[in-house]
Amino acid sequence: MAFPEAFIEELVSRSEISDVVGSYVALTKRSGSNIFGLCPFHNEKTPSFSVSTDKQIYHCFGCGKGGGVINFIMEIENLSYPDAVRFLARRAGMEVPEDGEYRENRTRDRILKLNRDAARYYYKYLRSPEGKPVADYLASRRISGKVARDFGMGAAPDSWDSLLKAMTAMGYEKRELLDAGLAVKNAKGGIYDRFRNRLMLPVINVRGEIIGFGSRVIDKSEPKYLNSPENVVYSKRRALYGLNIAKNSKRPNIILCEGNLDVVTLHQAGFDNAVASMGTALTTEQTRLLARYTKELVICYDNDEAGQKATARALEVLKDSELSVKVLRLPNIVKDGVSVKQDADDFIKNHGADAFEALLSGSGTSAQYGLAVIAAKYDFSLDDHRVEFLKEASRFIAGLTSPVEREIYSVRAAEQAKVSPDVMKQEVNRAIKSRAGYQKKKQTQMVQSPDRNAQPKERTIRYENIRSARAEEGIIRLLLMEYVRPELCDIEPEEFSSPFLAKTYRIIKTRLSEGRPVSMDALTGQLESEEISRLTALLQQPENSAAAEGALRDYIGAVKRESLKRAAEESGDLRQMYLNAKENKHG
Ligand code: CTP
Ligand code: MN
Repeated sequence: MAFPEAFIEELVSRSEISDVVGSYVALTKRSGSNIFGLCPFHNEKTPSFSVSTDKQIYHCFGCGKGGGVINFIMEIENLSYPDAVRFLARRAGMEVPEDGEYRENRTRDRILKLNRDAARYYYKYLRSPEGKPVADYLASRRISGKVARDFGMGAAPDSWDSLLKAMTAMGYEKRELLDAGLAVKNAKGGIYDRFRNRLMLPVINVRGEIIGFGSRVIDKSEPKYLNSPENVVYSKRRALYGLNIAKNSKRPNIILCEGNLDVVTLHQAGFDNAVASMGTALTTEQTRLLARYTKELVICYDNDEAGQKATARALEVLKDSELSVKVLRLPNIVKDGVSVKQDADDFIKNHGADAFEALLSGSGTSAQYGLAVIAAKYDFSLDDHRVEFLKEASRFIAGLTSPVEREIYSVRAAEQAKVSPDVMKQEVNRAIKSRAGYQKKKQTQMVQSPDRNAQPKERTIRYENIRSARAEEGIIRLLLMEYVRPELCDIEPEEFSSPFLAKTYRIIKTRLSEGRPVSMDALTGQLESEEISRLTALLQQPENSAAAEGALRDYIGAVKRESLKRAAEESGDLRQMYLNAKENKHG
């Protein structure tokens, strides 16, 4: 065990969960010993995130996340278990007992330091005579020295091991360069620099830490862009290039574009509110991060088909977020009769900052954008097209949550298709009704196949035998609630069908038998995050303490029956295999 148990216990007792969670989430509604607020782990409008001051746990009835206070910090701050413990210790003013093994394990701090030193190395290299090819490339893209400095840009040498040599000379281990994703290992075990002969774009988070790198080739070679791999400090789902600067912008919104160099060009043109995700579709993690710094997001993706698809996907992700959303549409450029893709970088270079400013102020709401995309598919001079447009537009309008919006866009669509607003409103009402019917059907399905037959929400947990697993969960729940004594559990972990529940049962039973506590915090160091969420969810289900011993007997009986069935099946299979083998031999 890494940290002494007594230390963890004291730490947890000094970290009241409602205080810790309360500094991230506004906990507003109280019911008994539960306080509710909006879940910080998924987008929602009505609170389904609860904190139990009794049990010292949190649980979201919407997304299923849950656990103790340590687990909460791991999730919200994206920290490892030991780092979350240190984080809470700092907050509680406690000294962390570090043993030798632990000091070695402080990979996060170490990688951040290594990233910073690597960024310095690349930065200097770009400004040295050897950095000229990359400097020339920047000049060819009309990126100024000032902006290159603001973004901490650098150059990776055209060599297999320059960075490795420089960093190991500073005392870093090769292992650490691999962990940071700055070096790669080939099949023969050789270790060399990941980034070679590239423009280096450090990715800096809102705390000013260099969490990773994007990079671009300076010629036509492939891959054009190469980014840091995922590691303890770099998660592409959370990264937003340029946010470290954009978060201080005086502009009233944030512009989300597709490419790193779009961000750079926009900043240079005075739009210091531009950011980009690092080669991924927009994630809910990123929308939450953005919502901390702005109220309005303007999507400005490329105007090709891929860009439009990405816009549609982003709008879907943003649907439940508190951000208000606009879409800036870049016009096509027509060259020799064909229209060619134009991204923000191209547009600024072709038309200048003022033209972009005009597009920005003219950018429509997401509903306007959605209608425009639909309208573009139809030719309004043809009657059957108008009919199809009306149908599709009314389905779209029916999906808008605000009645005011539905009213306004119904009128707009009617004008476009040259029908009376009343006809359009009727059509929208019909679409709303059929949506409601569909949702009702889905709900009935949920009721008919109740939770007990379903796999858990946690995607990494899958039960082979759901009937047995539910009973195994029942045993674990009774133990976690300490409604039954461990001696009464006359069943071995080997008889469980789920390896995860067997492992958990073993841990809990041992702890209880030794008189040690079984809080979620005590288990957090030994189980995966999703496993902790699952256990927390178990604690939400009702169990009657008075009838606990009877329930325990039922659960144990069910698990044993299923386990005997399995054993019989297995031996049956063996006999069949034996018979088959014999037949083949003699046949
Ligand atoms: N990207 C990536 N990996 C790739 C290609 C693209 O991570 N192999 C990401 C990069 O963040 C890039 C963005 O997707 O900035 C957009 O890529 P693309 O549209 O191909 O390039 P541009 O941004 O137009 O790049 P440039 O103007 O530098 O050619
Ligand atoms: Mn581009």
